[in-house]
Amino acid sequence: MTPRVTATVDLAAIRHNLKVVRKTAPRSKVMAAVKADAYGHGAVEVARALEAGQVDALAVACMEEALQLREAHLLTTPIALLEGVISIEEAALAVYERLQVVVHDHWQIALLEQLPASAEVQVWFKLDSGMHRLGFPLSDVPRLVDTLKRRPGWKLQGWITHLACADELDSDATPRQIGAYETALLGVSGPRSIANSAGLLAWPEARVDWVRPGLMLYGASPLSGKTGLDLGLVPALRLESRLIAIREYAAGEPIGYGQAWRTPERMPIGVVAVGYADGVHRCLPSGTPVMVAGTRVPLVGRVSMDMITVDLRGAPAARVGDSVLLWGPGLPAEEVAGYAGTIAYELFCGLTQRVRFRYRG
Ligand SMILES: Cc1ncc(COP(=O)(O)O)c(C=O)c1O
Repeated sequence: MTPRVTATVDLAAIRHNLKVVRKTAPRSKVMAAVKADAYGHGAVEVARALEAGQVDALAVACMEEALQLREAHLLTTPIALLEGVISIEEAALAVYERLQVVVHDHWQIALLEQLPASAEVQVWFKLDSGMHRLGFPLSDVPRLVDTLKRRPGWKLQGWITHLACADELDSDATPRQIGAYETALLGVSGPRSIANSAGLLAWPEARVDWVRPGLMLYGASPLSGKTGLDLGLVPALRLESRLIAIREYAAGEPIGYGQAWRTPERMPIGVVAVGYADGVHRCLPSGTPVMVAGTRVPLVGRVSMDMITVDLRGAPAARVGDSVLLWGPGLPAEEVAGYAGTIAYELFCGLTQRVRFRYRG
């Protein structure tokens, strides 16, 4: 059977991007974000590739994602739960599975304190230095230090904070967050961890003991105005489908649902077998680029569930069966995401079960 829509994930590209992280933050350990099924790339395969690339730790959002990696058996790399645990059962499981637990609130401390005092809990404390989503207020640091003294079985992995505006190079929010975090931790021992991809690329002072890249490992840029390629990254995923029809229409003919677009002249329209049920967002407007057999052409008309229509005037040699690239090397997901008014993260995470995944490298 010929797959309709394929996502080809280049694991060598992911290992290359890990090397870019190491080169950018040579003194930092790397905790790779593989949450959300490795940003839609396939958590187990990506985690194995990163392990082969000798990443220092992996980060997932929740227990379910961690267990998926544990069940894949091959993983020896530490795994951190970025949202921590939500029940005593999860707390016990985290200890049993030797998972690192990010603790962001006092209710989680109370939960973990229900475990036997001898339980070895690997703890990251998350501090809110200005993101105001998760984390203890910075003024809680002395209380957290006391907690550690009370629970000698707990092994402090470090102090995490998360940057709200690391991709905004003109904003002073990041230096303010880093300054407040460093000040709160003055004289306190334990590894520091501040930077996501944008943080580690754009803010040298955020390259501390641990960095936590996600997006850049998949080859996309978190910085606006720059593509992954500009940063030396290689896009890891190519999303492809095929032309399944080519029709010639006279000038003024409407195309697709709502007759939302009309042919400005006599012209060929291609139909590509991919739609919003595959993860190509319906809000992508006419003009969004796709690549037909290596040539950029614009999407025209509305994205439907299983198909899109494209203007083939710029690709006169196009034939039914030609491959069509939705995003990947040569057509950055960051650029396509811009047309949808979103970010590459959301495109990646939006791929659906109907897409056939293949792995290379
Ligand atoms: C706490 C934390 N650290 C690191 C990351 C990785 O971020 P990015 O994909 O922007 O590098 C995320 C992702 O949202 C996160 O929530």
